[in-house]
Amino acid sequence: MSLLLSRTLTQTLVQTIRVRSPVLQCTPIKVQLFTDKTVRAAGHCLAAMAKRRPFERLPTDVFPVNYGLCLKPDLINFTFMGKLEAMVEVTQSTNQIVMNCADIDIITASFVPNGGDEIDATGFNYQNEDEKVTLSFPSALKKGSGVLKIKFAGELNDKMKGFYRSKYMTATGETRYAAVTQFEATDARRAFPCWDEPAIKATFDITLIVPKDRIALSNMNVVERQPYPSEEDLVEIKFGTSPIMSTYLVAFVIGEFDFVESQSSDGVLVRVYTPVGKAEQGRFALEVATKTLPFYKDYFNVPYPLPKIDLIAIADFAAGAMENWGLVTYRETALLIDPKNSCASSRQWVALVVGHELAHQWFGNLVTMEWWTHLWLNEGFASWIEYLCVDHCFPEYDIWTQFVSADYTRALDLDALDSSHPIEVNVGHPSEVDEIFDAISYSKGASVIRMLHNYIGDEDFRKGMNAYLLKFQHKNASTEDLWDCLEQASGKPIATVMGSWTKQMGFPIIVVEQEQQYGDNRILKISQKKFCASGPHNGGDCPCWMVPISICTSKEPQCSKLQVLLDKPETTVTLKGVTPDEWIKVNPGTVGFYRIQYSSAMLQSLLPGIRDLSLQPVDRLSLQNDLFSLSRAGMISTVEVLKLMEAFVNEPNYTVWSDLSCNLGILSSLLSHTDFHEEIQEFIRDLFTPIGLRLGWDSKHGEGHLDALLRGLVLGKLGKAGHKPTLEEARRRFKEHVEGKHILPADLRSPVYLTVLKHGDSTTLETMLRLHKQADMQEEKNRIERVLGAIAAPDLIQRVLTFALSEEVRPQDTVSVIGGVAGSSKQGRKAAWKFVKDNWEELYNHYQGGFLLSRLIKLTVDGFAIDKMAAEVKSFFESHPTPAVERTVLQCCENILLNSAWLKRDADEIHHYLMQRKAPPV
Ligand code: BES
Ligand code: ZN
Repeated sequence: MSLLLSRTLTQTLVQTIRVRSPVLQCTPIKVQLFTDKTVRAAGHCLAAMAKRRPFERLPTDVFPVNYGLCLKPDLINFTFMGKLEAMVEVTQSTNQIVMNCADIDIITASFVPNGGDEIDATGFNYQNEDEKVTLSFPSALKKGSGVLKIKFAGELNDKMKGFYRSKYMTATGETRYAAVTQFEATDARRAFPCWDEPAIKATFDITLIVPKDRIALSNMNVVERQPYPSEEDLVEIKFGTSPIMSTYLVAFVIGEFDFVESQSSDGVLVRVYTPVGKAEQGRFALEVATKTLPFYKDYFNVPYPLPKIDLIAIADFAAGAMENWGLVTYRETALLIDPKNSCASSRQWVALVVGHELAHQWFGNLVTMEWWTHLWLNEGFASWIEYLCVDHCFPEYDIWTQFVSADYTRALDLDALDSSHPIEVNVGHPSEVDEIFDAISYSKGASVIRMLHNYIGDEDFRKGMNAYLLKFQHKNASTEDLWDCLEQASGKPIATVMGSWTKQMGFPIIVVEQEQQYGDNRILKISQKKFCASGPHNGGDCPCWMVPISICTSKEPQCSKLQVLLDKPETTVTLKGVTPDEWIKVNPGTVGFYRIQYSSAMLQSLLPGIRDLSLQPVDRLSLQNDLFSLSRAGMISTVEVLKLMEAFVNEPNYTVWSDLSCNLGILSSLLSHTDFHEEIQEFIRDLFTPIGLRLGWDSKHGEGHLDALLRGLVLGKLGKAGHKPTLEEARRRFKEHVEGKHILPADLRSPVYLTVLKHGDSTTLETMLRLHKQADMQEEKNRIERVLGAIAAPDLIQRVLTFALSEEVRPQDTVSVIGGVAGSSKQGRKAAWKFVKDNWEELYNHYQGGFLLSRLIKLTVDGFAIDKMAAEVKSFFESHPTPAVERTVLQCCENILLNSAWLKRDADEIHHYLMQRKAPPV
């Protein structure tokens, strides 16, 4: 997902590029040197030049045991006052205390040794670059316990991190602000001075002083509420003592909210807090949460340890959601569902996000990674188990097939770049921590856990997980600790197998060739080499993976007939009882994290399995996806893939179509650099017309979730590609919708909006902007924002870009408006990039580095396909150094060069193919 934003973006119809962003430090080099033959070398070179910032973890001579923290936010002047009384242990006599602290003014500080006299600190030395403060004391603090007292003040900022303000509107149209927190990864230090490292756990006693008429929430339940002595419209609210926990999981929210509540079968009070007047929109998430808590309790065999859990929708929110212990914060669109106005994909998204964040309550909160190097454990695991949970709650979503399209293939795409990185990566400085919230930690992490789960089997996996959670609860753990527990439970060499996936970047391509058939015995040669987006790795020092391989045949396409652990470059296997007419499929279920290259004879034999649907959907999907990726890497011709795509004309499965559609979108974007863009649109229309006709516009009795998703996908694709009947019907329905005669069902809105905008004029755009203004739900606003970029006329594109930075668009959504423009057309891409450059300062300020900026860059420049654009992007960031996006920039430049090489290599042949398939038969 990526994070949320990127993942939901790929669900929309204008976006064609799978994204999730990353970063790393580097000294840029000149890209003009790159020719398409040197893409690989260039990537290595860029990655090698990455440099690390100096960084030191906090000294361990003083550590906290309990934080008594009182905060008094001012929601009018956007400031806050704070008082910290931390019980600490001094392990070594010292006259200094070093803590994390950023953008906070310390007013006074003192230390009271146990049974001794208060010692005032004589100096506060801020090391701003390191986000630390050193408190100096006139005499040594002796070994033993004591209380550190600090009074401080800060700003309720508008940067969506630390302790910040979030804007909302009352029913009467008055603008007000809530005060909320987002501390992960390293921003608790912006709300109070603290030891802001995940392994420095302590208990928390939080008190908030807030206006009487506001709701105040924190991780724990309220234990005391009393009038605040000196100001009568304030109250002092005390929360219960938390279990020991890391600072990044602390949270508080002060604002106006309504809620719905329920109790889960295991006795936890669950509340979903919504904007005032929208309590009912919390109902769906409430149901998911109350089902999910007992599911995890059962799966982990460990109860949820707090008395309550709140899920709350925050208007201004940078990530998708945040797993603060007992107080999970969400974007509105990741939590709120209106039965009438929410579409099927929103419901699915809410279920996934709730499943993800609740999993962290155990995996992350109860057992926490020792250091950010192991962040992937948190995010990879939660990104895997969210699917397990949704599959449990909503089997009809066929969510595991969607996993392969959304996470697995996205991870393969990113990890095939030379500028990728290993799952376990050394990080220090906060900007390095920020950059690893990327598709490697999330999607590759989830994919290798899925592979591992499959390799171990559910029973032993659960046994090992349970042992891990019990052993490390209320403590910290590393990747090795998890492997140890799973190894014990399964008796399999987990650390060795998994190390090959988490410690080295990339993944193999498995080459499968049929050696011989003896009677009913089939002999296969299987070999591995590193898969690179620029073509297979042929160097001498080829890395090797421990690859669990399974093989099925057409007799039983769902069952594996043979399983081997490939632990060397190549091997030969014999399949017994396979008749000569059976096809052979490696990696049934697409669980192993690798791509496959079959000999052409084997591939030919598999193709009928696509047409007659005897290959299971997920394998149809991955066969197509592998070939697409191989064509981009120059290992097969793109025309071969186009021919394969035509075999999908009778495909019934939503996810298979969705993946295919995404790849066609990438191809269409590539061919927008040529003069035969219209021909690929025609190809798309031809491919999608039969399924469009089968589905029609109106949902039929008995249809379900996946039918709704498929209809939206297909109509949007046809509309965007200029399919006349779709365009006409979309216009008719849009008109009736705007006139209020027939409101469009939620699932048809995105495709209709997209279609009319793509082929629309200034009136269409004005109408859409009006609908945006009138929309009450953030979901509807986002839906519109994401398709606005489809508008074609250059002056209207400018209007959309200006709109992206206007007050009308929430700061976290600006990225998807600009991204929508860039993803829609060649002109859009150019205009969006220019806009980003021209408004760099404002955008940078908006996001203060961080992952939204990475996403913005990726969405804006990844689709270029001319070498000189890689040079231009590089040089722009040379003159605008931005630590947290450096790896993203490297990856984008690599992608641009790959696109360019792909285009040069295959354009003529694609053109020829598209022309001859149009030519009337002679
Ligand atoms: N821990 C993250 C939130 C986060 C993301 C904090 C980035 C700091 C930086 C949370 O658990 C998460 O992963 N949220 C996802 C949603 C999830 C369903 C993939 C997100 O925000 O996109
Ligand atoms: Zn997460």
